[in-house]
Amino acid sequence: MNRLLAKLSLLATTAAAALVFAGPVHAADIKKGEALVNKGGCIACHGAGLDKPIAPNYPIIAGQYASYLFHAMQQYQTKHQTPLYGRNNPIMSGVMAQFSTQDLKDIAAYVSSLKGPLYIRDEVH
Ligand code: HEC
Repeated sequence: MNRLLAKLSLLATTAAAALVFAGPVHAADIKKGEALVNKGGCIACHGAGLDKPIAPNYPIIAGQYASYLFHAMQQYQTKHQTPLYGRNNPIMSGVMAQFSTQDLKDIAAYVSSLKGPLYIRDEVH
């Protein structure tokens, strides 16, 4: 029993250390997201306000859930593509290649804060 406890406490210590060394976690920055969207030229295809795409098969993204946007954008990046889950769109893969994970969190926070037909949850923005 004591050996089990010792093992468990070692595990807990290791897990705590791993958390400490994982580095700081930054909250999403809406202002930075806005700057990245402007720099990234997203409105050229998704439209002004990101809710008026230039073609019917281009998605409306304004007001979508931030976590949905984040994962969608990440899946366009080559390093996150898997045969089962990766998205494979040459346009968006090209656009997303330049962004870090933190950039994508910031962009998602900004895009989800915009009003659009997909905007449904006032209380979380
Ligand atoms: C040259 C046109 C073009 C530009 C520029 C562009 N996109 Fe896209 N975007 C598309 C197309 C087309 C799709 C649909 C791709 C598909 O079928 O997976 C898409 C898909 C997306 C999606 C997935 C939406 C969903 O609901 O699945 C997100 C999020 C997105 N774009 C964000 C952005 C952001 C942010 C930028 C700017 C940094 C940007 N896009 C720039 C054309 C563009």
